[in-house]
Amino acid sequence: MQNSLFDIQDKVIVITGAAGVLAGCTTRYMLSQGAKVILLDLRQETVDKLVAEYKETISPNVSGYACNVLDKAMLEEVYEKIMAEYGRVDVLINGAGGNMPGATIPPDKTIFDLDLDQYGKVLDLNLKGTLYPSITFVKAMARQGSGAIVNFSSMAAFTTLTRVLGYSNAKGAINNLTHWLACEFGRTFGSGIRVNAIAPGFFIGNQNRALLCNPDGTYTDRGNAVINHTPMKRFGTEDEVCGCIHYLISDASKFVTGAIIPVDGGFSAFSGI
Ligand SMILES: NC(=O)c1ccc[n+]([C@@H]2O[C@H](COP(=O)([O-])OP(=O)(O)OC[C@H]3O[C@@H](n4cnc5c(N)ncnc54)[C@H](O)[C@@H]3O)[C@@H](O)[C@H]2O)c1
Repeated sequence: MQNSLFDIQDKVIVITGAAGVLAGCTTRYMLSQGAKVILLDLRQETVDKLVAEYKETISPNVSGYACNVLDKAMLEEVYEKIMAEYGRVDVLINGAGGNMPGATIPPDKTIFDLDLDQYGKVLDLNLKGTLYPSITFVKAMARQGSGAIVNFSSMAAFTTLTRVLGYSNAKGAINNLTHWLACEFGRTFGSGIRVNAIAPGFFIGNQNRALLCNPDGTYTDRGNAVINHTPMKRFGTEDEVCGCIHYLISDASKFVTGAIIPVDGGFSAFSGI
């Protein structure tokens, strides 16, 4: 018997940063569940390649556009195209985000070496890159009286991770933005519109591989420190974010808004002793 609480068949889902690791895995999962998924990412050729691949291997219900989440005019253009083709947007997943080397403080440097330009870019990408798509796509949700937005926070938002300054500040702001938009959209546009976030723990990807793993595959001191602080004693695998996002965009969570759910193997629950 179909469990309709979790049914996302035919939902129109826009995913930013859809060529990324976690957002890409989420895209494939949503397609496999019968949703209509629209990929947004920076480069046209990357988007076209992924759309062709997913059409062939997962579902015909996929399309995509090159779109910079920091370019409001471009977002508006893409929004109009999506509305012309689909007539609605049920879900926005704000997957575009990330870190830059200059916004972190390497072991042999101090805060005086911070690259303020890169620090600003990290704040912009994560914070404005979540705000701008949200205020663009919520227009359709407001008209429909329903919709769900899912943001990506991080463990860096809750307690201090040494070295990771810009990204921590940005993801702390994402937690605040998630609360803020949940209140604003719920109060202004109605209870059918919800804004939540997931806070992934440590998943080894291109951005953090060198920090966590040695070239021979063993863990660095930092990698071991993470594992020792994770009750499950392992890193996450990319597919492990999909279930939580599925919950947050389905009717199973229809009284849940402003929540930031850790998907972290217990990292955020553990005091370390
Ligand atoms: N991977 C992890 O371990 C991890 C852990 C915690 C949080 N997160 C967060 O989860 C989210 C998704 O992570 P991911 O692993 O898929 O990231 P990723 O780095 O693999 O991919 C990010 C994607 O965003 C795109 N992008 C960058 N700037 C853009 C812009 N201006 N406009 C549009 N697209 C842009 C990139 O092209 C890339 O495809 C990010 O916010 C990330 O910070 C990731």
